[in-house]
Amino acid sequence: MTSAEHLILRELLAREPNWLSGSALAAKLGVSRVAVWQHMEKLRAAGFAFEAQRARGYRLVGRPSAPHAALIETQLKVHPRGFSLLVLDEVDSTNDEAVRQLAAGRVAPFAVVARRQTHGRGRLGRAWHSEANGNLYVSVAFRPRVPPERMGAFTLWMGLNVCEFLANFAHVTPGLKWPNDILFGSRKAGGMLTEARVDADQIRDLVFGLGLNVNSPAGGWPGDLARRAISLAEVSGVPLDFNRLAAALLGRVLLAYDNFSDGSYMKTFADLWHRYDVLRGKPITLLEAGRRHHGTVAGLDDEGALLLRDDHGRTQRFRAGEVTLEKTA
Ligand code: BTN
Repeated sequence: MTSAEHLILRELLAREPNWLSGSALAAKLGVSRVAVWQHMEKLRAAGFAFEAQRARGYRLVGRPSAPHAALIETQLKVHPRGFSLLVLDEVDSTNDEAVRQLAAGRVAPFAVVARRQTHGRGRLGRAWHSEANGNLYVSVAFRPRVPPERMGAFTLWMGLNVCEFLANFAHVTPGLKWPNDILFGSRKAGGMLTEARVDADQIRDLVFGLGLNVNSPAGGWPGDLARRAISLAEVSGVPLDFNRLAAALLGRVLLAYDNFSDGSYMKTFADLWHRYDVLRGKPITLLEAGRRHHGTVAGLDDEGALLLRDDHGRTQRFRAGEVTLEKTA
């Protein structure tokens, strides 16, 4: 997309749902009205829909529902220095692409968004179902340059921010299941995969991957996912504007990273944790390194490790593991 088309889009988005005259656009761009019209035709071919009236000009009435770089960029309100966005139709995994981009010297922070992943990955070597069905697959790369132990609560902090964002943006009530699941009731709408490369005692780079079920339709899940997964559209009953959501969410992730880096996250972490944590006080089984631990969730420590109280009143801490809620009578 040319910079002229970018500018047209920015202007029309700012005016939406009102009209913008062709002459105002032409003046802004320093081109003729015919040239504006030619740019509009290109935008139409890229999936945008406009109404055009001789007396009033243009207004935006439809936009692509698939990930669209310019639509995300023009709606992004946070612009860290050097930030760039890569939007792909298909990739093996956005986390893997981010690592390749880092290795090739791309300046961080940057984000990789894909319409579809052929090898989307979850925690513990699992696959992340990544069809081109309106869901979000995004990875954001950072170069934190801090010792790894400083990043203990990072994924949880990001998860809390994603939950808070969704509550405000889509008026839904998500929950966060330690360590990385975004849930509605017992069904999963999102998962996070943070991967870091460490040099000696410093993190060289860090990739925060998020899979979020945004617009996939009810009944579209294969096999077992039909009872375990859910999308935001299913929860809220209406499809969401994908690129508006992606831009706003990306803005939140970038701000959340800053709050984590400067330590200011500690001011709100506990409040958000109480609001979104779904495990506190619940009996669970935690599977870690092939061993099962039963107990009641007592909370988190400062590094984001889960505190589990067993039947004898002993508390153990776990930095990783797979949690299953036990059925209560
Ligand atoms: C999990 O719940 O186990 C984590 C799932 C993380 C999936 C996302 S989708 C975008 C990014 N790319 C990947 O390959 N994985 C993460």
